[in-house]
Amino acid sequence: MTAIDCRSLQPSSSVIRLVGRAIWDRDDAHAIYRQLKTEISAGWPGAATIGRQIVEGVDRDGFAVADQLGLADLDPAIRDVLLLEVLSHVGKITVHDDHGKVLWDIKDRAKTIQRAPTFSERLGACPMHTDSAFTQDPERFLCLFVVRESGDGGGESVVIKIDNMLKQLSAEQDGSRCIEILKANNFPLRTPDAFSAVEQVLSAPLLGTEPMVRFRYDSVIEGFNAKPDLDSPERRWALEYFFEFAQMRAERMQVLAVRDQLAVVDNRNALHARTHYADPHRHLIRARLHPMEKAA
Ligand SMILES: [Fe+2]
Repeated sequence: MTAIDCRSLQPSSSVIRLVGRAIWDRDDAHAIYRQLKTEISAGWPGAATIGRQIVEGVDRDGFAVADQLGLADLDPAIRDVLLLEVLSHVGKITVHDDHGKVLWDIKDRAKTIQRAPTFSERLGACPMHTDSAFTQDPERFLCLFVVRESGDGGGESVVIKIDNMLKQLSAEQDGSRCIEILKANNFPLRTPDAFSAVEQVLSAPLLGTEPMVRFRYDSVIEGFNAKPDLDSPERRWALEYFFEFAQMRAERMQVLAVRDQLAVVDNRNALHARTHYADPHRHLIRARLHPMEKAA
């Protein structure tokens, strides 16, 4: 894991004032950012340095953590605009929903929504997975900014670099067979209800070259129900074996989410998970980005 200390690269009070003058509504952070981008970039050169170090760290280690960005104590609207500036130097941000939302709050709202909550909407742990596993082209960078950490010391980010895991897995007696099945066969990945009202199922191998891994256990299990022709004892065996190995035995990196930290995971070459937490006030902001070379 790459650790980046951002204390000397924080935004100046003049760039914070510049954004503050333009703010009228937090929901418009992306619009405000696009308007002011040139001035913000000129006024905060440290953002480009942080972004570059994050990309280098993710390329090398699959996981980079930038601490003390100087954003967590700002007015939420100003914080979001400046966070977008850092992210613009990591990659091209993707839209989360039909309303053009690019920053997604991760906090407990299981009690306020009608449908089954997804990982980012409830307390507790979440198992090893990749984001957007059920989409054709999952984003490379998964970014998590910590506004407020869990008061109980939980909610750690856990990351497994897939090339390391496959080396470890292939050393086991049945490991190579498991890898072969996940590479050679299509698996059905059903889009969770939280992401789409219509049923969508993607058929793809779980291991490949680009992305090296796409994985979400519950999405595949639901996919088997939706597409029984892709359900077989062999696929089920390989899925369970891989999941159990990732959950219990694979070598992992683990980092405690702390306020004002931006953690970035290589979502096409690593699995990630979250350890248990129970503090309903924990608050993270998530963004997903494609690499810069994909940008138009
Ligand atoms: Fe995730």
